[in-house]
Amino acid sequence: MKHLLDIETADEGFLNQVLESAEVFLKVLQQPSKKLPTLRGKTVLMMFMEPSTRTQASFELAAKRLSADTVSFSPGRSSMRKGETFLDTLYNLHAMGIDGVVIRHSSPGAAHFVAEHTDAAVINAGDGAHEHPTQALLDAFTVKRKLGRLEGLTVLIVGDVLHSRVARSNLFLWRKFGSRVLFSGPPTLLPKEFATWGAELVDLNEVLHEVDVLMILRLQRERMEGSLVPSVREYRRFWGLTRDRLKRLPERTLLMHPGPVNWGVELDPEANDRPNTVILEQVRNGVAVRMAVLYHLLAKTEEIG
Ligand code: NCD
Repeated sequence: MKHLLDIETADEGFLNQVLESAEVFLKVLQQPSKKLPTLRGKTVLMMFMEPSTRTQASFELAAKRLSADTVSFSPGRSSMRKGETFLDTLYNLHAMGIDGVVIRHSSPGAAHFVAEHTDAAVINAGDGAHEHPTQALLDAFTVKRKLGRLEGLTVLIVGDVLHSRVARSNLFLWRKFGSRVLFSGPPTLLPKEFATWGAELVDLNEVLHEVDVLMILRLQRERMEGSLVPSVREYRRFWGLTRDRLKRLPERTLLMHPGPVNWGVELDPEANDRPNTVILEQVRNGVAVRMAVLYHLLAKTEEIG
């Protein structure tokens, strides 16, 4: 594979390779030196055109741990403020010699667009409500390390599925690996058509006791036009993982959230008191998974330690 644009069309062999190599890179990250020379001489352009904390820092670190140079571009402080188009910006940065582009953008399809206009390897770091492939990969990696397998699991994803690129990428990934995906959320944020993609639409309260993995999604207020939920209080009451619902969650169930969390809205802070809440492990694992993605797209032929 030349790019990682989405999970839907990604090659299963590639996804498996990434998950296997991530294990090696996680070990590297636990060593005092934390660094490999693998991508020395390569340059990765970080185009984050939408706010990001975890994903941006994670990709930056992943590239640096592999000894690549990184160039960061943020639209607010660039010549796009002077009217330069996105494409011109890309061509100019590309002219400086770029091997990889990591792009986050509010428009679905932005990563595919970049891939059509550059010969560098393109990695989608989230395009609108479309996909966020490396998030799904780090989620899968976290589950695999904890539960020992990726197949035959029941994965429940709760909340704002409509706006969630994380939900979409996870759905495609878990289906590829032969696990069951359940979606739950308010009807305005979970259209019935989503059932045709291979997820079962369920009532959160009826399935809590039987899921292996529970992913809570952020209520994405910045993507909402009009009032899709009556109020934040109402949302919490019907769809939030409240203290009461947390009590009904089996201890063995992995509780995940891609971040950032609206504490007290979709998830109560008591979630942090249970041993199988793995939100920060997801973040830690994200660096190793992104190292693996960069490695397979940019260094293919070289050996890792
Ligand atoms: C997610 C994103 O930006 O898609 N966060 C992330 O990358 N860790 C989810 C979200 O914003 O709710």
